[in-house]
Amino acid sequence: MIVGGRFAPDSAGEGAPEISFAEVSVGVLDDTPTGDVYRPILTDVNVTLDEPMIAIIGANGSGKSTLLQLFNGLVTANSGRVLIDGLDPVEQAKQVRSRVGFVFTDPAAQLVMPTPLEDIELSLRKRVPKAQRGAAALAVLEELGIADLADRSVYELSGGQRQLVALAAVLAVDPQILVLDEPTTLLDLRNKEKLRRLLADLVVSRGVRVIFSTHDLDFAGLADRALVVDSGRVVHDSAPAEATRMYRELIMSDSS
Ligand SMILES: Nc1ncnc2c1ncn2[C@@H]1O[C@H](COP(=O)(O)OP(=O)(O)OP(=O)(O)O)[C@@H](O)[C@H]1O
Ligand SMILES: [Mg+2]
Repeated sequence: MIVGGRFAPDSAGEGAPEISFAEVSVGVLDDTPTGDVYRPILTDVNVTLDEPMIAIIGANGSGKSTLLQLFNGLVTANSGRVLIDGLDPVEQAKQVRSRVGFVFTDPAAQLVMPTPLEDIELSLRKRVPKAQRGAAALAVLEELGIADLADRSVYELSGGQRQLVALAAVLAVDPQILVLDEPTTLLDLRNKEKLRRLLADLVVSRGVRVIFSTHDLDFAGLADRALVVDSGRVVHDSAPAEATRMYRELIMSDSS
């Protein structure tokens, strides 16, 4: 059974890809002296995500990153079904990954080339002819206001600069769905505001669906809907203001 969200199902607009999780569970087998023991990481996740922007909040280790990694098959569900635009992220990985851009918390996990420009060029290799790739890559960096970093060594960049380059490399391939795992952790106030505007603009002008996890409850307010994850379960699903209030209560009741 798929339990829908509380909002209008067509709120992301005509033709927006549908994202649904039905009875999704993820776990690992722990090797113990008495044999393998199943340790749940996510349990019975049932959501249909139709809104343009969705925030996922919850404590460290609650399961947010695992949930996000199900979107493009980086994590496989042990049971249940994840569907992105009717496609299975594991069985139809190629089609799903052409739709879903994933930005990791740690930009080092995705930057593989010596300079930002080369990294974006690598992203563009299948869609832009070689002769135009340099200019196209520079245009992507310009869009994020970081063209000045184009030829710097990625190893010399600050954490926040790297996070922006990683985001640029993902945006370069025009994803329909953008999944970001704690995108603001390394950003200063100015860049956080820049990201806020950029995400809002992606939704409005390009129709991109944005799903992000965050510990920044203020940033979560940018979303149309927020899920609270606790011990591997989606325990609350509402507008962000109510969700963050519920999350605070959950933490306070836990620590008292
Ligand atoms: N590959 C794995 N093998 C074993 N356990 C894992 C694996 N990946 C995640 N876990 C465990 O699953 C739980 C949820 O991890 P996850 O990274 O999804 O949490 P999170 O909500 O993103 O936390 P944080 O806010 O710290 O990023 C944690 O207890 C983690 O140790
Ligand atoms: Mg995480």
